[in-house]
Amino acid sequence: MTQNAGILGMGHAYPSGVLTNADLEKIVDTNDEWITTRTGIKQRRKAADNEYTSQFAVAAGKQALERAGIDPKDIDIIVCATTTPDQILPSTGCLIQRELGCENAAGMDVFAACSGFLYGITMVESMIRTGQIRYALVIGAEVLTKYVDYTDRSTCVIFGDGAGAAVLGAVPEGKGILATKIRSDGRYEEQLFAPGGGTKLGTTHETIDNRLHYFKMKGNELFKVAVRSMAEISTEMLEKAGYSVEDVTMVVPHQANQRITDAVASRLGVPEEKMYSNIAQTGNTSSASIPIALDECLEAGKIKEGDLVLLTAFGGGVTWGATVIRF
Ligand code: UT7
Repeated sequence: MTQNAGILGMGHAYPSGVLTNADLEKIVDTNDEWITTRTGIKQRRKAADNEYTSQFAVAAGKQALERAGIDPKDIDIIVCATTTPDQILPSTGCLIQRELGCENAAGMDVFAACSGFLYGITMVESMIRTGQIRYALVIGAEVLTKYVDYTDRSTCVIFGDGAGAAVLGAVPEGKGILATKIRSDGRYEEQLFAPGGGTKLGTTHETIDNRLHYFKMKGNELFKVAVRSMAEISTEMLEKAGYSVEDVTMVVPHQANQRITDAVASRLGVPEEKMYSNIAQTGNTSSASIPIALDECLEAGKIKEGDLVLLTAFGGGVTWGATVIRF
C-alpha cells in the first residue's frame, strides 16, 4: 500500500542584515536602475561575518516542526539542500540534526544549487509514499554572500541569504505531492560554477589569488536555458498530475530574476497575480528561495487548504525540476 506525501508545516528565516542596491553602488560599478530593470531586485539579506548557513536552517526547521506539530524525535531524515555549507565535513544536515534534537534522524546534504529544495522533496516523497519513513525535514539554506565575489558586478548584485524548511509526512488520498520530477545536465557546468577549493584545483594561494573559490556565472546564457527548462518541465508535471495551468492557484518559481519569472509566466500562460514573487526584497537565495516563498504564501493566505500549487526551479549544474502539490 502506498500513501501520498505532503507538506505538514513550513518555516523560514533570514539574517537581519540587509544589502540594498544603494549599498552595492558603493562597492562595484553598478546602479539601482540597472539592477532593478535587469533583475527586479531592490535588496537582499546578508549574513554577518559570524553567521553561517546551519543557523538559518535550524531557525527555519524549528518553526516548520512547531507548525507541523511534529516532535523532532519523530523525524526520520533531514535533507539540507545547500551549495554553501558551513564546512565541507560534516554535512550541514548532521549539524541541523544535532541542533534540533532530531535524535532518530539521518542527516544529509543535497548539492543541486537552486533546484535543491525540489531535489529534497522529490527524494523524500518516494520514501514516505512507500512507507520507508514517516516524517522528513527538507531545508533549503544558503549563505551565498560569502561565496560571491564583490569585485564581480555580474554576480554580486543577484544573490542573498536565508533558509526555508518543510516537514513532510503522509497525507490523505488526492492531497500532497501529485507529480514531481528533477533533472540535470552537466554539460552546462561552466555557466555557473565555483572551480576552486575541491579535489580538482584544491585550495592554494594561486586559486585564492585568482578568486577561483567564488561563484562565476554566464548569466545571459543561463537565462534562456532557465526559461525553457522550467516552462517545459512545469507543463510535463501538470499533465502528469492530470491538470492544466488554469487549475493552479499559485505558481511558486525559484526567484532567479524577475525577468526569468515573467518569461516563464508568459510561456505557461500564467497571469501575473498567480506568479509569486518576492525577489525585490530577498534577491536570489538559491535552494532557499522556493521554501521561503512558499511559506510566505501560506502565511499571507495566498495558498489555502485544497489549492493546487506548482513549484519550479532551475540552477547551476545545470539542474531543474517541477512539483505539483495539492495543499
Ligand atoms: O539562480 C539560477 C541560476 N542563475 C540564473 O538563472 C541567472 C540568469 N541570468 C540573469 O539573471 C541575468 O543574465 C543577469 C541579471 C545575471 C544579467 O543580466 P543580462 O541582461 O543578461 O545582462 P548581460 O550579462 O548581458 O550584461 C549586459 C551589460 C554588460 O555590459 P556591456 O557588455 O553590454 O557593455 C554587462 O557588463 O550589463 C553589464 N552589467 C552590469 N551593469 C551594471 C552586468 N552586470 C552589471 C551590473 N551593473 N551589476
